[in-house]
Amino acid sequence: MKIAILGGTGDQGPGLALRWAMAGEEVIIGSRSNERAEKVAAELNAELAQDGAKTRIRGTDNVTAAGEAETVVLTVPYSAHVSTLESVKEQLRGKVLVDVSVPLDPEHPRRMKMPAAGSATEEAQAVLGPDTKVVAAFQNVAAHLLRDPHHPIDCDVLVCGDDAEAKKTVMGLVAKMGMQAYDVGPAESARVVEGLTSILIRLNIRHKVKGGGIRLAGLPR
Ligand SMILES: NC(=O)c1ccc[n+]([C@@H]2O[C@H](COP(=O)([O-])OP(=O)(O)OC[C@H]3O[C@@H](n4cnc5c(N)ncnc54)[C@H](OP(=O)(O)O)[C@@H]3O)[C@@H](O)[C@H]2O)c1
Repeated sequence: MKIAILGGTGDQGPGLALRWAMAGEEVIIGSRSNERAEKVAAELNAELAQDGAKTRIRGTDNVTAAGEAETVVLTVPYSAHVSTLESVKEQLRGKVLVDVSVPLDPEHPRRMKMPAAGSATEEAQAVLGPDTKVVAAFQNVAAHLLRDPHHPIDCDVLVCGDDAEAKKTVMGLVAKMGMQAYDVGPAESARVVEGLTSILIRLNIRHKVKGGGIRLAGLPR
């Protein structure tokens, strides 16, 4: 699987890239700047080399990355959500877009500020149209946990979207990272999944931790 991570130079992208590369997937880091993408890819490759991993990560601009990949992951700040999606709309036709975005209120980061579409995921589907299958995942997983690929992550991944096959693909990618994915329904469920992140942020602050996550109970694992 060739996976592009748009905005993969930030906090959330590199951990996803490392974990998929370690599982043998082909990963492309995307950025607005070719140079920045190559620099981050080189840093991640140095880590992979230390672990003896055979796969290598490449870096290029977001549009090229989206064009080359089969599955594309969007990890830009929510403020850049619509503009980034519009910039790669053509490249995403016929593909799966994994949206990790959490529309937190920039003035009150413990609160959500949902877009008119209902959630970032539904907004992405509306921007991209029916030719791209949008799937929500990873909203409740902290970046620094992903970034340490030698430690298992104590968090389940809630996956939702309107296309069953696309969700299966993404659940397979979650499993490759050693995490349990649950299909929690249509894109509309993202209103809850994205919103859970604001609760996790509150809990992290209250308990003075950084990596609070969610675990579902009473279900087959
Ligand atoms: N951080 C977490 O723990 C976490 C957890 C769950 C979900 N999320 C979600 O994941 C997404 C990414 O979070 P993050 O913490 O990784 O964000 P980030 O580090 O602030 O930004 C990620 C990358 O986005 C690109 N970017 C920044 N501003 C941009 C703009 N105006 N237009 C286009 N690209 C821009 C930058 O890449 P270039 O400059 O190289 O283009 C940056 O490295 C967010 O939607 C967030 O809600 C984050």
